Amino acid sequence: MTTTDPSPTAADSGSSATEAFRAAHQGEHGTEQVSAERVATVVHAVLSGVHESIREHEVSYPEFQAAKQWLMNVGEGGEWPLFLDVFVEHAVEEVAARSHEGSQGSILGPYYLPNQTRLPAEASLPARPDEKGTPLVFAGQVRDTSGQPVSGAELDIWHADDEGYYSGFAPGIPEGNLRGVVVTDEQGRFRISTVQPAPYQIPTDGPTGTLITAAGWHPWRPAHLHLIVRAPGHRPITTQLYFEGGDWLDSDVAEATKPELVLDPQRQQDGHLLSEYDFVLEPV
Ligand code: DHB
Ligand code: FE
Repeated sequence: MTTTDPSPTAADSGSSATEAFRAAHQGEHGTEQVSAERVATVVHAVLSGVHESIREHEVSYPEFQAAKQWLMNVGEGGEWPLFLDVFVEHAVEEVAARSHEGSQGSILGPYYLPNQTRLPAEASLPARPDEKGTPLVFAGQVRDTSGQPVSGAELDIWHADDEGYYSGFAPGIPEGNLRGVVVTDEQGRFRISTVQPAPYQIPTDGPTGTLITAAGWHPWRPAHLHLIVRAPGHRPITTQLYFEGGDWLDSDVAEATKPELVLDPQRQQDGHLLSEYDFVLEPV
């Protein structure tokens, strides 16, 4: 691959996602944080589910060895963050949402990077001079559950480009591209100029892609914006917003869409799209 080839390989994005996860969770000690009782209960339940599937579907030795080989490949390819975020995280988010008020959340996914450029309430996300894609303005207000505007709230936003690639994970895209932390004004408002992202495809050349092909599934997620909305004294919301009528909206491989999270952008006279969306934060 040349340095100007933007096509990411599974190995590129897999190892970057592994590094990003390790950096974000540095100093946390994995199993030491979870009680023995909890480990025993949940791991026993997971293993029982596996055993039951083997019995029900009469899984053979060759199939077991194929699964073992594949699991080894996921580890060696650094694809555990990708695989778990696509196929498992949505259930964890669903459980967390049971005890939450305020705006709906969705999965974080593997491509969040902290410490991006802080921007005022009305701002353009960092982009290449020739950034491709339909201009998109994403505007709205952050309020709390009693309806009060939240000024100084942070919208930590990141999304794929017009080809479905994320800066920091695909080669050839400048650091911080299409990422930023936008701070709301005195009325809790924001107005962010960017470009509409394209749908995202799970890298097809790694073990997760191999599994998807072997099962005859498709590797697509609908186009989406990622956000973490946070303010002091409020529970942060990790979410994603999708686009009405977009491809794969009804068959997201990561099962991370919700009806409340679909934007309906309106084309403006000069050709740009305008999407309005308000966030509601729960005081804690
Ligand atoms: C994955 C990628 C995403 O952009 C996302 O939002 C969720 C998961 C993934 O490749 O695992
Ligand atoms: Fe994503």
